[in-house]
Amino acid sequence: MNDFDQLVKNAREAFAAALTPADLENAKALFLGKSGRITEMMKGMSSLSVDEKKTMGAAMNLAKQAIEASLGARRVELQQEQLNKQLQAQALDVTLPGRERGQGGLHPVSRTLERVEAIFSSMGFDVAQGPEIETDWFNFTALNTPQDHPARSMHDTFYVEGGTAQAPNLLRTHTSPMQIRYAVQHVKKHRALAGEVLTPDGLFTGDMPEIRVIAPGRTYRVDSDATHSPMFHQCEGLWVGEQVSFKDLKYVFTDFCKTFFESHDLVLRFRPSFFPFTEPSAEIDIQFSSGPLAGRWLEVAGSGQVHPQVIRNMGLDPERYIGFAFGMGPDRLTMLRYGVNDLRLFFDGDIRFLSQFR
Ligand code: PHE
Repeated sequence: MNDFDQLVKNAREAFAAALTPADLENAKALFLGKSGRITEMMKGMSSLSVDEKKTMGAAMNLAKQAIEASLGARRVELQQEQLNKQLQAQALDVTLPGRERGQGGLHPVSRTLERVEAIFSSMGFDVAQGPEIETDWFNFTALNTPQDHPARSMHDTFYVEGGTAQAPNLLRTHTSPMQIRYAVQHVKKHRALAGEVLTPDGLFTGDMPEIRVIAPGRTYRVDSDATHSPMFHQCEGLWVGEQVSFKDLKYVFTDFCKTFFESHDLVLRFRPSFFPFTEPSAEIDIQFSSGPLAGRWLEVAGSGQVHPQVIRNMGLDPERYIGFAFGMGPDRLTMLRYGVNDLRLFFDGDIRFLSQFR
């Protein structure tokens, strides 16, 4: 091997040993730089003869070209290596498990309300919504519960701005104000169609389709324990016509309960009670004949025949129109259906509890 071959070989080895672009540039300087080996050898040629210079020069050029080629190749190699390293560092590991997205679901009480609405809709009831901030008139007075009526104290509630000093607005204590709101709209619509057939005191006594409606929603009272929450749900029911009686109430409500609980193993009891807006009035209790609650009477609704004064406040003639109303607790129905014994669990917003109902 002559000196040039040796030089090329040394250069190749030096380039191969360079592991970074900076190392490679340093190695290049050793061979091709201003004071590198090639420059040194060129300087050494000054003492040679012309012929010798020719052959040596040609050989040296070849060596120089070979070194440059090797340098270029190593540069490309290092670039590629660096690129590979970068790609590896930024690699996306598609085998990692993805981040799970939490799956939501309907609140158990919302599920109950959907069921209640579906069942009553199938029996021909309309579903109505009303305001949660009520006036004294709709929440109490129109429901035959005037100022100072003792029944008001059971409904102690949250008063809000608006109304008058003696009769401030309030968060509704029950869904019963919807009896009046809905009936008044219904009567207004059909009075015009029937041609304003009125009693001497201006009550409608003409023909109209029956009122059949439920009104589910949030209600509020100053109450809090395992079975009472300051915010709770009610669902009002109202059926007013000419031939509607307690018998219909009993049939409709029993049918509803059997459908809701998907069971025929239950009986209902109508226990005499008092509400200012119904006469007579009854609490509706339910008893299951099997399951964990078998044999116990559980109160699920208040009910009664709509009081004649309330019929009047709807704008209807009580001599012609009669009906029944009920107000049930969807929260209680939800507790019974799922076997939950503390109402507050539903409203604490604890995902561990709620996710069981997804
Ligand atoms: N509004 C009554 C309550 O909250 C329930 C009820 C509704 C009673 C309709 C009779 C008729 O206790």
